Amino acid sequence: MDIVELEFDGRDQRVLRFEHAQSGARGYVIVDSTVLGPAMGGCRLWHYPDDDTALRDAQRLARGMSLKNAMAGLPLGGGKAVLQLPHGPFDREAMFSAFGEAVNKFAGDYLTAEDVGTTEEDMRCVREISPFVFGLPTAKGKAGGNPSPWTALGVFRAMSALLARSGRDFSGVTVAVQGLGQVGIALCDLLHDAGASLIVADVNRARLALAVSRGWTVSSVEEIHRAPADIFAPCALGAILSAETIPQLTASMIVGAANNQLAASDDAERLLTRGILYAPDYIVNAGGIINVAAEYFGDDASEVSLRVDGIADRIVAIVEQAASEGVSPAVIADRLAEARVSSGAKLPTAKLSRAS
Ligand code: NAI
Repeated sequence: MDIVELEFDGRDQRVLRFEHAQSGARGYVIVDSTVLGPAMGGCRLWHYPDDDTALRDAQRLARGMSLKNAMAGLPLGGGKAVLQLPHGPFDREAMFSAFGEAVNKFAGDYLTAEDVGTTEEDMRCVREISPFVFGLPTAKGKAGGNPSPWTALGVFRAMSALLARSGRDFSGVTVAVQGLGQVGIALCDLLHDAGASLIVADVNRARLALAVSRGWTVSSVEEIHRAPADIFAPCALGAILSAETIPQLTASMIVGAANNQLAASDDAERLLTRGILYAPDYIVNAGGIINVAAEYFGDDASEVSLRVDGIADRIVAIVEQAASEGVSPAVIADRLAEARVSSGAKLPTAKLSRAS
């Protein structure tokens, strides 16, 4: 197993690169900030064209976790791990054991969990090697397990609150959902039960068959962002909102789970100019990390629900502040989050503390 810590000029992030030839494990573990507490953020397993792209993705995602955790009121910093998905067959258990060794190098400054491409089973393999892994089943009544349903609930609460601002609920509202993964499906179920109409897309045919069996309208992957909908919910991968796609959007509101939805920072301005309300991704998709954090702190499951409900008030406050200043909600969210991360000011609502 090769593990090296890389040095970068002008960046405070700690970056660890690791490679384990026998299992094919290869990737990066990043600690972006520990100002508010240990850095928490999931582990992504994905195809990358080269090491540099994987590293850049990991760094961007790690920074996003610092901002997300700060804004969710969690006494945690931000970090992320990215594993490069091998092209051929590989030993998955050995890969996640090797990853566990890399996680241990941070001695608790980095705490991992599931993300795109990784499962509870993978995290169990990590747990054999490392205590610094969460997103695992816990004792009855205790927070823990798959974070995705909580992420979906937070996104749903945010949509409901933003609709309620203009006196609406989900009746007569159409939501276009891009990506029917763990979060996307759970979100669609909540929306369907609330009376919304759904247009959905996924690259995976089995997912589409499930959608058809539930009576949802299927769109193509190429068309979903411009499907005739009131709300567009990106729940696949990042960078869907770009100079190319923004002019084509039909929805008046973007509220989704995907991380890093804006391809570039001026895309927030593009959305504002078009009069499209953008709910910053890291504010509305914090439900999962709220659950993982509660597991880490040993909290009861009942507390998670209350904290996830808090996403609704948070997004409304940000959107109203943005409206009063005539700027994008992304500007307000970034300003608040950066200030919290750099000052280390824990929120008074963060009553979480870990029993040692
Ligand atoms: P997932 O891997 O279970 O689902 C992603 C889905 O998107 C898959 O069904 C995949 O086939 C589909 N997909 C991929 N490319 C697509 C495309 N071009 N068009 C349409 N569909 C496409 O991932 P999960 O856990 O549902 O997460 C979804 C997004 O939410 C990711 O961006 C993730 O980073 C973000 N997120 C997830 C959290 C969680 O708790 N799982 C927490 C916070 C953010």
